[in-house]
Amino acid sequence: VYGSGLAKIRICVPLRQGGDGPLNGVRIGLVGVGSIGSHVARLLLDHRTGVEIVAAATKDESAVGKPLHEVAKARMTSTVQIVDSIEKVLECRPKVVIHATTSFLRDVAVEVTACAEAGAHVISCSEELAFPFLRHGDHAEMISRVAASRGVTVLGTGVNPGVIFDQLLLSVSGVCWTMDRIRGRRVVDVSGFGRPIHRRLGIGYSLEEFRAGHDRHTIAGHVGFPESIDLVCARLGIRLDGPVEESFEPLPARTSAPTRYGEVPAGCTEGFIQTAIARTNRSERLRLELVLHLRPAAAGYEPADSLTIDGIHPVQLKIQPGMDAILATSAQLVNSIPVVLSATPGLKSVKDLPVGAAWLGPLASIR
Ligand SMILES: NC(=O)c1ccc[n+]([C@@H]2O[C@H](COP(=O)([O-])OP(=O)(O)OC[C@H]3O[C@@H](n4cnc5c(N)ncnc54)[C@H](OP(=O)(O)O)[C@@H]3O)[C@@H](O)[C@H]2O)c1
Repeated sequence: VYGSGLAKIRICVPLRQGGDGPLNGVRIGLVGVGSIGSHVARLLLDHRTGVEIVAAATKDESAVGKPLHEVAKARMTSTVQIVDSIEKVLECRPKVVIHATTSFLRDVAVEVTACAEAGAHVISCSEELAFPFLRHGDHAEMISRVAASRGVTVLGTGVNPGVIFDQLLLSVSGVCWTMDRIRGRRVVDVSGFGRPIHRRLGIGYSLEEFRAGHDRHTIAGHVGFPESIDLVCARLGIRLDGPVEESFEPLPARTSAPTRYGEVPAGCTEGFIQTAIARTNRSERLRLELVLHLRPAAAGYEPADSLTIDGIHPVQLKIQPGMDAILATSAQLVNSIPVVLSATPGLKSVKDLPVGAAWLGPLASIR
């Protein structure tokens, strides 16, 4: 039974599957078959060999009972029918669970711990799991302890947090002498997302609703800036003056904005700018900015991911039109499979592990 004032669940499953034999038919379980989870399934089914999806669970009742390949819109078929609980996934003894449900550790920690307890490595896109050690010490300690005792690795990753402001920034820092000021910016066109994701992010609200939702924490915007900053500062050895300062500004539509599900009326939010600032010696040392927008180019925001590092040997990096959040995150989760399979046990972050490079040949051929 896990839980420390959290929801408690009891899971009875066979413990670890046998050994770390050759990487043939590595058994994969999926928890969460929404935007990310269904893309993970499609990528695994259509574009990767050496793995076998053995089970998939979601809470979305409209998907439960359906064939996984149908929900994932995969070309290849799968015999897996989507189930409604993580317990049923763990009964199938996955060697790796890809967990793509929600952002907050309070919601995922118990399940991630249960996976580790059952002997499965875990790769999750929960933003708060990307670097939970400072802000969520209790959860981090619980997951670390169980993962280490069961000999498995737990990794939180994705595109952001995970790659752009974390792994990529750290990689680029390898050519820097000093890093006096670090800026990261993403401008993302979110017109392809559906209504639930828009509403969760903060798009389609009147300004009053937006501000009230932000105050009540029902509109979160992007989750994960503090985690990226903590991770990068921990690796670079930067000691901050105090907590990360975050701001969240709505961008109202000047004219009604078309979406896949109808129009966002003029005056309602068709995007927002979210900023996180970290200081050393009372000066801004690190600034991360995210613009999410339905029509970014028309509003004067060029879709791109950029990193700017000031110092001796300054560096500027720009990726245009920027990474697709769903495609990049699902790829990062899948491409991290060989990374966790060869990692030492415990709760890790991307700073601790090799890059989750794509594996295009059979998993067993990856060196
Ligand atoms: N790190 C990164 O770079 C990154 C990038 C993209 C997304 N994310 C995060 O990853 C999470 C998933 O994203 P998404 O776009 O796939 O969200 P989504 O489309 O809402 O899909 C999540 C799915 O998981 C289901 N679910 C929720 N709790 C569950 C549980 N305990 N067991 C099984 N299924 C459960 C949901 O069902 P219901 O809808 O019925 O609740 C939903 O179908 C979000 O928190 C998102 O913020 C992180």
